[in-house]
Amino acid sequence: MRMSVIGCGYLGAVHAAAMASIGHDVIGIDVDDSKVQALSAGTAPFFEPQLSELVQAGLASGRLRFSTRAADAAGASVHFLAVGTPQLAGGHSADLRFVDAAVDALIPHLRPGDVVAGKSTVPVGTAAGISERIAETGATLAWNPEFLREGWAVHDTITPDRIVVGVSTGASGERASETLREVYHHAIDAGAPFLVTDLATAELVKGAANAFLATKISFINAMAEIAEASGADVTLLADALGHDTRIGRRYLGSGIGFGGGCLPKDIRAFAARAEELGRGESVGFLHEVDAINLRRRDRAVELVVDSLGGLVFGKRIAVLGAAFKPFSDDIRDSPALDVAVRLRGLGADVMVTDPAAIDNARAVQPQLGYEPERDEALRGADAVVVVTEWDEYRRQLSPEHAGALVSGRVIIDGRNCLDSSAWRAAGWAYHGMGRR
Ligand code: UDX
Repeated sequence: MRMSVIGCGYLGAVHAAAMASIGHDVIGIDVDDSKVQALSAGTAPFFEPQLSELVQAGLASGRLRFSTRAADAAGASVHFLAVGTPQLAGGHSADLRFVDAAVDALIPHLRPGDVVAGKSTVPVGTAAGISERIAETGATLAWNPEFLREGWAVHDTITPDRIVVGVSTGASGERASETLREVYHHAIDAGAPFLVTDLATAELVKGAANAFLATKISFINAMAEIAEASGADVTLLADALGHDTRIGRRYLGSGIGFGGGCLPKDIRAFAARAEELGRGESVGFLHEVDAINLRRRDRAVELVVDSLGGLVFGKRIAVLGAAFKPFSDDIRDSPALDVAVRLRGLGADVMVTDPAAIDNARAVQPQLGYEPERDEALRGADAVVVVTEWDEYRRQLSPEHAGALVSGRVIIDGRNCLDSSAWRAAGWAYHGMGRR
């Protein structure tokens, strides 16, 4: 099937390459010339495992192309909207300017019977407006939210755990859902549930899923606060809770909390939209989820300060991690980088290392020290803070090896990802977040 993907960021670039890999004929379109050039040369414009290989295979097969011209979408029968919806400057709502621009650019090239499939995360009600705007072209809107995780984007796109398609009632809606069933037949054949809903429900599924995940993380971090006050251990608590199959262990990872380009802005936009709908109180708890999440960053900084005797001024601190999570170079709303910035603000001599995100971090926080080599970052440190649980720190760094490099054996485990007894046995003062 011929398809266009409008927007070649994390979502769109992966979607375009994944669709080509399963046999579709795809054109990815983006207004950013540098992105299009990189992708056309077989290079992912950001760090995402397997993406460059997938793009190269798509280009070589002749089924994948990239362009800056919206007119190149003409002739495709499905058009995916995959542009970003960032947080509005100075507010909590989603900024829909890129979605609006993509729809405007697409309208002159739509034909009757085409399907426009929205994948961007939007406030509920947006799809109905787009549906009206494209109606005169004879194309039909479907809403097809994407649940991919950065770092796992290729895997999540090719083998999704469910496919949600929202359509309007009537024959054109039914045709649109059948078209998308055909698009995703590979995943459906492999067992992925294909759920057809109305437009509003499909938009809401994405917001609700992210709100739930964020709530789960803040829940366990709230328990970490209680554990800190009562002498309990939140990681043992999470294990015990996780064995209850109604709860499950995933997303009960405690520490410095969630960040990235999705969860923080999506829960704020969700709450803002609920307020517009007169239902702010229904999701009032999301403000608490956000507040708990931000408090954990304060707590990490407090732990570092306390562990260094109350003063970090002039102390050398090795910060292991800058990305908002491992397998990503994304530093948007990264709790890791935020902790580093706050420590620098207190006068510490901060040295940040990260396997993938240093260039991105340096571009926005040039005042911090950066060292690509982990061991060099550790050398001479008075304290070590683990803020992104890359394997390089979690699995491949032994307390003995690190101990030979640092000046002071003090470690703050901001992700509760280290074996506390092994570090203590090697003579380190180990501090987890909500751990004994
Ligand atoms: C998230 C959703 O998972 C995905 O479905 C949606 O499409 C986009 O938003 P992503 O932002 O890529 O994906 O990352 P995710 O793996 O969900 O992690 C988000 C943040 O939560 C990271 O900062 C991570 O470190 C943190 N996290 C995750 C925890 O603090 N504890 C956990 O147990 C899990």
